[in-house]
Amino acid sequence: QPDGWYQAEDATVAQGAVESNHTGYTGSGFVNYDNVSGSYVQWSVTAAQAGPATLTFRYANGTTTGRPMDLAVNGTAVSTGHPFGGTGDWNTWQSASLTVTLKAGANTVRATATTVNGGPNVDRLEL
Ligand code: GCU
Ligand code: CA
Ligand code: CA
Repeated sequence: QPDGWYQAEDATVAQGAVESNHTGYTGSGFVNYDNVSGSYVQWSVTAAQAGPATLTFRYANGTTTGRPMDLAVNGTAVSTGHPFGGTGDWNTWQSASLTVTLKAGANTVRATATTVNGGPNVDRLEL
């Protein structure tokens, strides 16, 4: 897989489970966030240089209700209630991107569910 892919199933998961019971994921599966507020996945990503970078989350949401998440980089909020809308079904994956500022080297990226529905299913983070 490309250098910039960071699989959710290899990240730190709080209140979620690694699963593979839907199709279309990459790597060995995806994270099914528990359907509670506060469930999260946290990655460590490596930036070659300090400065702006685009983060892209690949996710599925088989419902018609948004599953917003708070996004934080190195412990600082970068997007509150970032939208992760419905993708049609749990086998259909879409991308949600935002530009953030990273430091050179290791950076943490955390995506935390903000509603009782939890987050979407998350396949990977791309840097
Ligand atoms: C279904 C689906 C899960 C998903 C869950 C949800 O159970 O199979 O992958 O996480 O719905 O609503 O969050
Ligand atoms: Ca779930
Ligand atoms: Ca994956």
